[in-house]
Amino acid sequence: MTDQTITSVSREHRVFRPSAEFKAQANLGSESTYKRLYSESVNSPEKFWDRMAKEHLVWRKPYKKVLNWKPPHAEWFVGGKLNVAENCLDRHLGTARENKAALIFEGEPGDVRTITYKQLHFHVCRLAQIFQNMGIGKGDRVAIYMPMIPEAVMAMLACARVGAIHTVIFGGFSPEALKDRINDCQAKLVITADGGWRRGKVIELKANVDRAVEGTPSVHTMMVVKRCGNPVTMVEGRDVWWREAWEGAPNYHEAKAFDAEHPLFILYTSGSTGKPKGVLHTSAGYLLGCKMTSQYVFDLKENDRYFCSADIGWITGHSYVVYGLLSNGATIFMYEGAPNQPEPDRFWQMIDRHGITILYTAPTAIRAFMRWGDNFVLRHRLDSLRLLGSVGEPINPEAWMWYHKMIGKKRCPIVDTWWQTETGGIMISPLPGVTPTKPGSATKPFFGVAAKVVDDQGKEVPRNTGGKLVLTQPWPSMLRTLWGDDDRFKRQYFSEFPKHPDYYFTGDGARQDEDGYFWIVGRIDDVLNVSGHRIGTAEVESALVSHPAVAEAAAVGRPDELKGQALVVFVSLKAGHTASDELKEALRNHVGKEIGSLAKPDTIRFAAALPKTRSGKIMRRILKDIAAGATVKGDTSTLEDFSVVASLQSEE
Ligand code: PRX
Repeated sequence: MTDQTITSVSREHRVFRPSAEFKAQANLGSESTYKRLYSESVNSPEKFWDRMAKEHLVWRKPYKKVLNWKPPHAEWFVGGKLNVAENCLDRHLGTARENKAALIFEGEPGDVRTITYKQLHFHVCRLAQIFQNMGIGKGDRVAIYMPMIPEAVMAMLACARVGAIHTVIFGGFSPEALKDRINDCQAKLVITADGGWRRGKVIELKANVDRAVEGTPSVHTMMVVKRCGNPVTMVEGRDVWWREAWEGAPNYHEAKAFDAEHPLFILYTSGSTGKPKGVLHTSAGYLLGCKMTSQYVFDLKENDRYFCSADIGWITGHSYVVYGLLSNGATIFMYEGAPNQPEPDRFWQMIDRHGITILYTAPTAIRAFMRWGDNFVLRHRLDSLRLLGSVGEPINPEAWMWYHKMIGKKRCPIVDTWWQTETGGIMISPLPGVTPTKPGSATKPFFGVAAKVVDDQGKEVPRNTGGKLVLTQPWPSMLRTLWGDDDRFKRQYFSEFPKHPDYYFTGDGARQDEDGYFWIVGRIDDVLNVSGHRIGTAEVESALVSHPAVAEAAAVGRPDELKGQALVVFVSLKAGHTASDELKEALRNHVGKEIGSLAKPDTIRFAAALPKTRSGKIMRRILKDIAAGATVKGDTSTLEDFSVVASLQSEE
């Protein structure tokens, strides 16, 4: 374990208490209530979750048993039936929420659409009916590769309504990456758009899908939303325009109920080895986690207008744009484009224009705003805001303070929320009316979250000591398996501590301070977090070695002020190839083609050889030091040839 990273977590002593005003109106404003409920949730989880499931979800058929836990497999609310889309939409019809805005959308060019709950329900029902006519139903996989437009939300909910399993693939992934994901889950239908707006340009999504589906025999239908009007090729018999598919379709749809454990979606994410993993989430437990965390962590109120800047291609977009918010009947604000289009004050402009009350964004975005300068913020009032959230990576205290002062005007509590694709929902976070915050700490676990910091044997370490972050009890929104690879699921998450086969290993390092607050250090496995995007070093390396000039490659992270981590790759070339700037560019583009622009290395370094142990393992620890420009620390006695390190250092 990388002890030096863990102990280097800043020691931050400032404490910010919730204001009396915020506390008084909070959904949960008393520390003793939090303590009582938390204690019940981890000591009598079945009793606690039974009550919560009844209170928060609409069931068609009651469950017989709250939990069936055979580590590492959990079944929650066994025997119960519900429909997730009904829980997000139908439950609000016939109430005062019916004509409330479910979605307010602003496109990058400035077009605005408002869709009420009743209207969203109507759209989703029609789409569900179309799916049924296309032969898409229970258990079928549907790939969604779309810009951040309301149709993306409709597509997800229509899948949920008919029991199809969606897999949303972020629009920044390349056709190659899209193809791999479609093939892995054998999707029959792909939903896309002609394009999406980003920094004033059209991202040609349909063209990417066309390339991807050349190698995906499972796909028989493609639905295409017209968004940008850019030219596209429609293939007769396979491709259909979203609007045309709707013509003549009945606009009502009787929703069936599905098992609590029916799969809701697969979301691909990077792991420390091999290809991306298809994280599988199921219905009731996932929804319950999202619903409750949205209500308590964001202190949701009927009049809130909530803006989460994440793309629906990531878990944050699933849980905290779509499922958690709509199940609460909240108004979601959705923005299509870049935060600095046309100017770096786009977010602040939109917050004032739409009266946004809650903003949930990532530290990397906050650091970019800081860099663009305070003047872009000071032009706007931002007085509608009442709560701020952060997610995706550790937030450095400097960025936290800037967010607090410049955006929150010292008035808005900040919730720094730690969680993962695999956890489905927020796990460690302040409750804004209860928890005093410390800049840089995600603070305390949410209900039902049994988090511990342990050593390599799984034994809890003393306070203020670095260790591995584990979750020692199952929780309703946990992943159930990896699609098609249950062995990898066990290996990846439940095999770190042989004495504790029921401990879920997060892959993160952390420490708990004297008050029991959690300070997350970041990944301690071979996963990088570049601008809040999870990138597996193994994926980047395998993309690089698929280039004809590359003999061997190693990818590591380097601390970066803006991105959190930057991606540095060391490459040794095959005989006959010479290092050049052109080759660097070609390799960057090659990674872009294999994975997507988000994985393009920030720095490429050519090396005659890579530092290895005598058994041939690349010593990444050493490469990390070299990439950071630091002197190589720690034991180097296992190195096969120290001159490799010396030559890499002299090249800096
Ligand atoms: O390292 C942690 C970091 O992001 C990882 C999970 O990435 P992903 O599955 O893409 O989900 C991101 C959105 C939930 C974690 O293992 N991470 C996420 N939130 C925080 C964080 N690190 C520190 N503080 C956070 N608030």
